[in-house]
Amino acid sequence: MRRRTAVLLSGRGSNCAALIDAAADPAYPAEIALVLTNVPDAPGLARAAAAGVPTAAIDHRSFGRDRAAHERAVIAALRAAGIELVCLAGYMRVLTPLLVGAYAGRMLNIHPSLLPAFPGLHTHAAALAAGVKLHGCTVHLVTEALDAGPIVAQAAVPVLPGDTEATLAARVLVQELRLYPLALALLAGGGAGVPAAADATLCNPLPGAGGVA
Ligand code: GRF
Repeated sequence: MRRRTAVLLSGRGSNCAALIDAAADPAYPAEIALVLTNVPDAPGLARAAAAGVPTAAIDHRSFGRDRAAHERAVIAALRAAGIELVCLAGYMRVLTPLLVGAYAGRMLNIHPSLLPAFPGLHTHAAALAAGVKLHGCTVHLVTEALDAGPIVAQAAVPVLPGDTEATLAARVLVQELRLYPLALALLAGGGAGVPAAADATLCNPLPGAGGVA
């Protein structure tokens, strides 16, 4: 049985599109059964709808400052669609324990840095300012601590001389689109053993660095 998966997004939706593409293969262990946004005009929602995936928009602004009420509506939509797994993909909301608890161990996030380095926003600028030579992206299980749940998979890219925030972000994004489908497959196929299974996974695109995928 393919695991019914929702993608939550707030913007462009390129990671969501990569997950939809991967799940188009009937052998992939997850199906994207819902794409949900808090931003009704998010381009990612239109991309998902164009791909034939069911979509839902639950605008957080309708709930004022009541984060819990917004999350209750999100959880109700996820449950109504029979969602087992959730992928956050550029979902620009800080989650409360309500939503985190509803999908504990079953919710992934993709973050554009090699966590635990550079949590939060503006990761590419932070990496350039710090002078690191390696940067990348992380897929992790979502816990109540921001960008700090167990790491499922990572991919690294070099920081090159002359890089700008934009060139570095573009290099990282190429790896994000490759990493997220791999990580969701681990979660969907691995059940509770995901962190252990992922220990064996090094997804490193650097030439000569080996690794899988
Ligand atoms: C990605 O860089 C992701 O790592 C971060 O937000 C961005 C979303 O991009 N969490 P997209 O909407 O998937 O194109």
